Amino acid sequence: MIRIVEVGPRDGLQNEATPIPTERKAAFIRALAAAGLKEIEATSFVSPKWVPQLGDAAELLARLVPPPALLSALVPNMKGLERALETSIERIALFTAASDAFTQKNIAMSVEESLQVFGEVAAAFRAARPGGWIRGYVSTAFECPYAGRIAPARTVEVARRLIEIGMDEVSIGDTIGVASPREVRALCRAMAGEIPTEKIAFHFHDTRGTAIATVAEGLAQGITAFDSSAGGLGGCPFAPGAGGNLATEDLIYFLEREGIATGVDLAALAHASLPILSALGRAPVAKAQLAALSASPPK
Ligand code: HMG
Ligand code: MG
Repeated sequence: MIRIVEVGPRDGLQNEATPIPTERKAAFIRALAAAGLKEIEATSFVSPKWVPQLGDAAELLARLVPPPALLSALVPNMKGLERALETSIERIALFTAASDAFTQKNIAMSVEESLQVFGEVAAAFRAARPGGWIRGYVSTAFECPYAGRIAPARTVEVARRLIEIGMDEVSIGDTIGVASPREVRALCRAMAGEIPTEKIAFHFHDTRGTAIATVAEGLAQGITAFDSSAGGLGGCPFAPGAGGNLATEDLIYFLEREGIATGVDLAALAHASLPILSALGRAPVAKAQLAALSASPPK
């Protein structure tokens, strides 16, 4: 079975300056769940000074009780965990990177410091939520906008450390959307025997149009979990050049056409991000979304 982790409400919106009302975000998440997405990264408990758009994390989650899907939220540090634990969230995502230059810009820590902090955050979360689930991101897994190309061995090392400190899964992020299938193959080979394959997800950005090709290579290498963002919304405000995420519509179309059932209704999904796009004053651009919308236009 292939798992899809929808990151649009978090990775999609964190990059947007136009404030989106909390209820519209909640409606977006409900629509994504209604389209059949089972795992949704809903928001972030990062500093609202750094990412004002997601400053309403607690209020948003309060509107989503009971949760319409398995919801998760980013947590950067203990302060973020304290805020998260005031909500009903059962799944958190901690995020570091393969490159020190990026983690300094993104969370004001070195990779090593972040791993120390995450060890404490993970232990405190486990104590508070014994049934909880923790993902660890390794951003800039192929290339960093500040430090350049990243050797596969470095990404493997950070992913292995995250598993050692208790992550249930690592999500390997091509933050600026540069990777080719050959690089994905090389990284998968380097991870083999070091990280259990079922604990690896890939998080591709489609900045250069290579995301589906890299998903295909990930599948060929036995990877079973992929992140994507409805409508291809997204990017990272601290990674120059991080364009849109892989659109969930493109991913679903590709998987279904490959004979892999996803349980997601593509037409419903194609409509889910329209109210957000309209609030941002933007037209849809994701290819499979446009095709689905032309077959089933908005009323
Ligand atoms: P800092 O300014 O170094 O924090 O930020 P600090 O520890 O010096 O504290 C400064 C003030 O912030 C203090 O308040 C803290 O309490 C407060 P004051 O005493 O001045 O009143 N503070 C917080 N408030 C709310 N929530 C918190 C929090 N922490 C401190 N969690 C920090 C450090 C980590 C907070 C900051 O750098 C930050 O929020 N960074 C987040 C950046 C971010 O969200 N990046 C995007 C997500 S990563 C991504 O997109 C990549 C991914 O998609 C995968 C991929 O594509 O590769 C996941
Ligand atoms: Mg991302």
